[in-house]
Amino acid sequence: MKKLLLSISLLVSLASIAQNEIVLQSDKGKDIISKNIYGHFAEHLGHCIYGGFYVGDNNSKIANTNGVRLDVIAALKKLKVPVLRWPGGCFADTYHWKDGIGAKDKRPSMLNVWWGNVKEDNSFGTNEFLNMCELLGAEPYLSGNVGSGSPQELSDWVKYVNHPNGSSPMPDLRLQNGRPNPWHVKYWGIGNEAWGCGGNMKPEYYANVYRQYATFMNNGNEKIYRIASGASDADYNWTEVLMRDIPHNMLDAVALHHYSIISWAKKGPSTNFTEEEYFSIMQSALQMNELVEKHSAIMDKYDPKKKVALVVDEWGGWYEVEPGSNPAFLFQQNTMRDAMIAGTTLNIFNNHCDRVRMANLAQIINVLQSVILTKEEKILLTPTYHVMEMYNVHQDATMLPITLNCNDYTMGKEKLKAISASASMDKNGVTHISLVNIDANKEQEVNININGANYTSVTGRILTSDKLQDYNSFENPNKIKPVIFNQAILSKNSLKLKMPPFSVIVLELK
Ligand code: AHR
Repeated sequence: MKKLLLSISLLVSLASIAQNEIVLQSDKGKDIISKNIYGHFAEHLGHCIYGGFYVGDNNSKIANTNGVRLDVIAALKKLKVPVLRWPGGCFADTYHWKDGIGAKDKRPSMLNVWWGNVKEDNSFGTNEFLNMCELLGAEPYLSGNVGSGSPQELSDWVKYVNHPNGSSPMPDLRLQNGRPNPWHVKYWGIGNEAWGCGGNMKPEYYANVYRQYATFMNNGNEKIYRIASGASDADYNWTEVLMRDIPHNMLDAVALHHYSIISWAKKGPSTNFTEEEYFSIMQSALQMNELVEKHSAIMDKYDPKKKVALVVDEWGGWYEVEPGSNPAFLFQQNTMRDAMIAGTTLNIFNNHCDRVRMANLAQIINVLQSVILTKEEKILLTPTYHVMEMYNVHQDATMLPITLNCNDYTMGKEKLKAISASASMDKNGVTHISLVNIDANKEQEVNININGANYTSVTGRILTSDKLQDYNSFENPNKIKPVIFNQAILSKNSLKLKMPPFSVIVLELK
């Protein structure tokens, strides 16, 4: 009996230290991880644009070029922001772009009715945004007003930013505003959340409206990508109707929005959260995998060749605002929990890069899961920034398939996969593997079996901290930052490492 109990307890303890097994197929890469998966989103909301990017032209003491903060641009250049969505969000379907061009003292004001009823003076408009994208080296993604606009207004916007000089009144207007050459904007959203703040439409109705707007977005011989306002979360019928009712020669992508949230009624704090709240957010974040797979399966039915992309143009964690801040400004801190959301979500996008060809984190500065927070002249980089910077090695690299068998991270009867991973090979033949251990308490040992390559060196970087609730503050902006990780052991075709609880590691193999 004693013997039996001993062997049972041995088996139990072996199970609890079971390793996580990954098989990496280094010679089976096929699909490219579009750099646009690492895209961002900037709305006229709170201090994303005003105070975040833009400090105005009136002698701000913050270093700027034409009102755009230089510290922010420098940080975002290191991040390699590929694409930036603007001006919303819900704001987009109230925005009339002609109010935001020409002499600033002549631009009419409006109330920003979605976000706090604050005055929008239109001092940051089309020229300011597109010039800023040039400074950043990012492709602009303009979200057109469908909810309260007109096909004419959107068609004029295309002409204003893209048509050659002298071809019609809109490019002439651009010239008068000091910009002779077109900006060649490729990415165009036709409305935002048309099922909600963008007009409360039914999918059949929106599909018709889309067809009408898309028809007049004429851009000569230059290709533009028209992106349909997509589903919220698991609204699969939305994707089904759009894929069925919109001809695919006028549809380049269908969007999807999914926020990691505990519940809309009780979002929980962004910093002093409990482990239960963390677990619940990670359940919501990891749901992205199922959403991407199920929306993609519907798209496959209508578009087996995957011509139409799935664009997740809003994603990220959403919590209660920081105490004392305007509730309509959605300003929240960013902890190691957000690093877990970012790392796992980007792995999901990488692994589904055959269909997911753009994604935009909501939102880039001072709103929701930001990469930068600002406080007057101060700026800090969040843990999410560091994950996106560590992961930018995957941009435009070839995705390498992996299989993953891993331990669970449990909370009561609920379970989540403790490990998330993705891998790619860049143009120089260098392989990168990004790994996340979301377990709040346990170190995880990871074994990677390599097929199809003989690597001889491994280096890496790790992001972690003492507590899951840790964050970078204006007083201590560098508390969390990536450091060298040199504890991965490579021998022949196997790579072994131990991942601390709530950590992100990116390895480089040559
Ligand atoms: O990102 C904040 C808001 O969330 C956006 O304006 C809207 O599209 C979504 O509901």
